[in-house]
Amino acid sequence: MIRVDNPRDEANVAQVYEANQEQVFQYWNDLDAVERRSLLDQIASIDFPEFRRLVESKRADSPAGETPGTRLAPAAMIPLPRTAEEREARDRAHAAGMEALNAGEVGVFLVAGGQGTRLGFEGPKGCFPLLPISGATLFQHFAEKIRALRDRTGRPLPWFIMTSQGNDATTREFFRANGHFGLPAAEIHFQPQAMLPVVDPEHGRILMTSPSSLMLSPNGHGGAVRVMQEQRAHFERYGTRHLFYHQVDNPLVAMADPVFLGHHILNDSGFSSKAVAKTDPAEKVGLFCVDGGTTRVVEYSEISDEDANLRDPDGGLTHRAGNIAVHVIATDFVAPDDSAEPFVMPYHIARKAVRHLRDGELVGGSEPNSVRYESFIFDLLPRSRNPVVLEADRALEFAPVKNAEGSDSPSTSRAAMAALWAEWLDRGGVTVPRDDEKRPLHPIEISPLVADDAETLAAHLAETDIDASGMIHLR
Ligand code: UD1
Repeated sequence: MIRVDNPRDEANVAQVYEANQEQVFQYWNDLDAVERRSLLDQIASIDFPEFRRLVESKRADSPAGETPGTRLAPAAMIPLPRTAEEREARDRAHAAGMEALNAGEVGVFLVAGGQGTRLGFEGPKGCFPLLPISGATLFQHFAEKIRALRDRTGRPLPWFIMTSQGNDATTREFFRANGHFGLPAAEIHFQPQAMLPVVDPEHGRILMTSPSSLMLSPNGHGGAVRVMQEQRAHFERYGTRHLFYHQVDNPLVAMADPVFLGHHILNDSGFSSKAVAKTDPAEKVGLFCVDGGTTRVVEYSEISDEDANLRDPDGGLTHRAGNIAVHVIATDFVAPDDSAEPFVMPYHIARKAVRHLRDGELVGGSEPNSVRYESFIFDLLPRSRNPVVLEADRALEFAPVKNAEGSDSPSTSRAAMAALWAEWLDRGGVTVPRDDEKRPLHPIEISPLVADDAETLAAHLAETDIDASGMIHLR
């Protein structure tokens, strides 16, 4: 066993040997004092009992694929209102949601701990300059949505931001350097999610990226559950009863949507979700399904081709309730007091191609040669009381930025924003010139501080003259 100076390090080193992971010390004799300290600190950050459980079980806890011998059924969903009765239900939900917002019972929870590798952007994804004219970042855009709501209710709307070890410091610094985008700094709470080692598929050994660095990866957005539990004192202080949860990649998110909050509250739900109609069987969204009697999200990577392509007599996909990763979560469900058993989230396995150190050289990178463990927030759904799935309009609420090019890229996301804003302007009496494919001819950008829905924009336009013959930038 390697020799270390203090009892805390000694205990951590012992855990490494007990887990048969001593290869992480193979370069120990070549490391200087700073490098040794860094390696010991990484080791200290690992939850070893959890990690050993995962490696020893050699499998994911969650179903990979559908439960054999059962048929997937579509989950029940509150549809977009089409009848007078459905519109009344929406209005009742809106009133209940506004009541909770006005009572200061709502908090916003943003997951921004992901690595954003697909977008190919250096730095936290929230720092991506997405907005078409100002170049404002995703973080600024969300902050403006929160400010607009805060201004409307006159109540605090605390913002909980889950980061990860790799982007926590940069994220905090970005907010600080930008004056927290006009929000009170004390109402923004950053917390990094936990990390887990990445291992080799054959022996479950921790991979290394340098002689003093382990390959660690964020534990999936299911890591938000532990972060929420650790934020409980803040929830109690603010009186937060409902968390509006969203991902960093979707600028169209209907922030703390009162209708959604209201359906959640009126149903006394623990975990509610928004879904959009999936129209392309190949689209990479999870699906709300009933699997073996339980409502859960079946990931796009898990569903069989047959089920993904199944159609109803109306021609639409049978499994069409696409997960946009927007939820409302009851704080008494996810972060109950100490007397309740804490949730243990199940883990899913991802195999990825990585470069790692072997015998002093960096190897690999084209074929999947590593295993990482991730938990997913939507695994709360099967355990929730009265879960609600609410249909949302894709054009209004979902335009994620995931890839550098092609589908779900900055250009598709900007086009969706332009289409939406042009429609709001039309409805407010400003005729937006368009090309043959109905795309606005000139760039448009509307800050949420001016309007974050068609009605607010119409009220603004009633008092302002807009020249629609060129670029329109309302801020
Ligand atoms: C996700 C959902 C999918 C849904 C789609 C909608 C999963 C497994 N799937 O897919 O069901 O239809 O979004 O856009 O989530 N994150 C963390 N920490 C992590 C991992 C991720 O905070 O350890 C955050 C990211 O910053 C991002 C979000 O979670 O905000 C989504 O992560 P990503 O891995 O990009 O999910 P998708 O595969 O796109």
